[in-house]
Amino acid sequence: MSKNQLSDYFEEFNDDLETQSPRKRVTQKRESKKREQEAKLFIRAQEIAREFQFTYKAARFEEAWLLDSLTEIYEHQWISDVLRKVKGGKEASVYLCKAGTEMSAPFVAAKIYRPRSLRNLKNDAQYRVGRVDLDADGTALWKEADKNAIAKRTSYGEEVRHRSWIAYEFKTMERLFAAGADVPQPYAMEKNAIVMDYIGDESSAAPILNSVSLTAGEAQELLDRVIHNMDVMLANECIHGDLSAYNILYWNGAITLIDFPQIVLPGSNPAAWNIFLRDAVRVCDYFSAQGLRCDARRIAADLWTKHGYRIGKQVDPKFLDPENPEDRKAWEKR
Ligand SMILES: Nc1ncnc2c1ncn2[C@@H]1O[C@H](COP(=O)(O)OP(=O)(O)O)[C@@H](O)[C@H]1O
Ligand SMILES: [Mg+2]
Repeated sequence: MSKNQLSDYFEEFNDDLETQSPRKRVTQKRESKKREQEAKLFIRAQEIAREFQFTYKAARFEEAWLLDSLTEIYEHQWISDVLRKVKGGKEASVYLCKAGTEMSAPFVAAKIYRPRSLRNLKNDAQYRVGRVDLDADGTALWKEADKNAIAKRTSYGEEVRHRSWIAYEFKTMERLFAAGADVPQPYAMEKNAIVMDYIGDESSAAPILNSVSLTAGEAQELLDRVIHNMDVMLANECIHGDLSAYNILYWNGAITLIDFPQIVLPGSNPAAWNIFLRDAVRVCDYFSAQGLRCDARRIAADLWTKHGYRIGKQVDPKFLDPENPEDRKAWEKR
């Protein structure tokens, strides 16, 4: 239905109203207003689909999901086209996009989280301990109703939890980028999507470090750089929480750390030391395979104590659940 046809339809409908009782007229007017709004929305959705047609040929469901996630990003001209999928994952997919007029780089990456119902949040409880949940703008949740909804795991609460997870990734990248860490510059967060620097070129995205073989000299240089980044993160009160050669990109001899939704706060999560040590062990697994002698415990302990943290008792992170009162009591006793 075109816009004109639609307004003709509503005029016709309103003419009918003149012949009815005043009360019925009010109700019908309200109804007609509602229908008019719905119709406008429907037309808008169709317009978006017409205006925003991207090069990437997505499957039907994926296309609807992309349109829904990227429309505002497109309207703000952070992107002007979706060129191809870089990588599809369980929780999120990353797309190579042509940058919009707002941007100076030719390309950007859009990381789009799957709709909540289709995702299996990495057992997020262990990471959330000591973190305040964030709202869609990345500010701390302040409404008790939202906090309760999360704790009770209502459907709305799960939605808020999902948004908080994405907001942590974006806010962490902003903070670390400003602090000079090797992370993609983040540009925008809307709904399910984060727009950031794309690492790679038009024909191929940067490989993950795990798939790269290094020369001995380069390996030492890059390990030092990873340790430097862990240091910058601690200085900014965060631990990656899922650091390994799978979440480090390699491009033109330089590294970029990615994938931050699960960051852990070193001062307020009782398993922080274990999680930090686990990151160091995984990093060393890769660099040892590249021929370096690499002592994960020493690297982790040096950084940890440098920032004034105490090496705590071993707490197995998988037993931590912030919503479990027994776990809460156990930590409070520590
Ligand atoms: N900024 C980026 N530039 C190029 N490729 C990226 C970028 N961010 C992510 N990727 C690619 O997408 C993959 C998935 O991204 P990641 O943030 O690790 O999400 P997850 O592991 O949770 O699916 C990465 O392994 C990498 O191959
Ligand atoms: Mg990853």
